[in-house]
Amino acid sequence: MNKQAKDPEKIQTMFSTIAPRYDLLNRVLSLGIDRSWRKFAVGRLPERENAKFLDIATGTCDVALEIIKRHLPGTRVVAVDFSEGMLALGREKVRGAGLEDRIDVRFADVTSLPFDDNTFDGSIIAFGIRNVQDYKKGIGEMGRVVKSGGKVVILEFTSVQSRFFQPVFHFYITKILPFIGEIVSGKKGAYKYLPDSMLDFPPPEKFKQAMEETGLQDVGYCKLTFGAAIVYTGTVR
Ligand SMILES: C[S@@+](CC[C@H](N)C(=O)[O-])C[C@H]1O[C@@H](n2cnc3c(N)ncnc32)[C@H](O)[C@@H]1O
Repeated sequence: MNKQAKDPEKIQTMFSTIAPRYDLLNRVLSLGIDRSWRKFAVGRLPERENAKFLDIATGTCDVALEIIKRHLPGTRVVAVDFSEGMLALGREKVRGAGLEDRIDVRFADVTSLPFDDNTFDGSIIAFGIRNVQDYKKGIGEMGRVVKSGGKVVILEFTSVQSRFFQPVFHFYITKILPFIGEIVSGKKGAYKYLPDSMLDFPPPEKFKQAMEETGLQDVGYCKLTFGAAIVYTGTVR
């Protein structure tokens, strides 16, 4: 995949374009499994009284809403993204759930987060880091804004699955997914980027090493659904 494909402006425009159909496509393309992946990832965040979490690349705020559902009543979330189209839908969902006082939705880029060091109890990004050219810088920012002992959680697709599952998965993401994506979104080519970026993403051990190089400790990962998705966690020193 060439570098231009991950040009931040192109990524912003692409997500704003597909935003209106994003949730529907997620459910259809993942056969509904994406919800359980987010639940699992949110469960990796530490359980603390009056915790404050950062949901990065929040999109339509599914992860932010899941955090509020699963964590203690005093929990608050700051949810950020750099696509105004996605943020608009996210704000609508947060308003619909009556959670504006607990989820603060804002514009921000993961590679330069507008927060002080040691602000949050944990930061999380779901299906976002794959789109970031300088992903190591993004991971560094995720750790910087988290307090000592807090967690960084990253949910992403993987390019490597079990030997049995790999051909099925490859066929699905390169042939079926772009076809359905185009029909449902009505945007030609929008869902061609998804398989390309999934296959281009570094394998688990390489990504784990990148997390360690940013200074995170006890970095580990857990594969979900035969390795279709993966959750990385690291602790801030
Ligand atoms: C596939 S969506 C994931 C949305 C959501 N987290 C979810 O689980 O459905 C990827 C999101 O990442 C956002 N994104 C990509 N690069 C970003 C960056 N550098 N900074 C902030 N958001 C970014 C896009 O705007 C998009 O909303």
